[in-house]
Amino acid sequence: MTLRWKARCLALLVLLLAAAIPHARSTADPGDDELAQLLQAKSDDTAAVRQFKESGKNPYNRDPDAVAAGFKLARAYACTHCHGGDLSGLIGPNLTSGNWRHLRNGTDKGMFQTLYFGTSAGMAAWGKIGALTEDDILKVIAFVRSKYRGKSITWE
Ligand code: HEC
Repeated sequence: MTLRWKARCLALLVLLLAAAIPHARSTADPGDDELAQLLQAKSDDTAAVRQFKESGKNPYNRDPDAVAAGFKLARAYACTHCHGGDLSGLIGPNLTSGNWRHLRNGTDKGMFQTLYFGTSAGMAAWGKIGALTEDDILKVIAFVRSKYRGKSITWE
């Protein structure tokens, strides 16, 4: 290989890396304003969403109907494809151990933020893109919590 080709290959490699790095660096975290706005009551909020916005707690947790609906949504939106049928982890991390990559997921509010706005490392912004409604997100969270297998099962 001539030196010129080597230089070209190197340039290509640098370009590829440059394409990858901004993605890794960018953050999907919303600004404080954007998050506060989302958590403000809206006239068409369901009763559960209203309660969640007031208390920060998901009223659907441990509600068998909501957990079943959340499971259906989780299958329809491929949560179970990436996180495994029992959510113990596949392409995406284990969601059953309480051992979070993003600590905020230990709270309902934090997981709501994750599911609404996504993350910069592989999770889509399900709420923001309009795939899941706020009520859907609460049901999916109830499903995720129902699979919790952590020793000290706590979430706020
Ligand atoms: C294309 C694969 C994919 C799909 C589909 C997917 N996820 Fe994820 N998920 C990931 C990856 C990858 C991460 C790790 C992201 C990160 O580290 O920022 C993640 C992270 C998460 C986290 C945070 C985990 C932690 O440890 O902090 C939660 C909660 C979560 N996903 C729930 C869901 C739910 C609920 C759905 C369905 C609505 C879903 N995911 C769909 C790939 C996926």
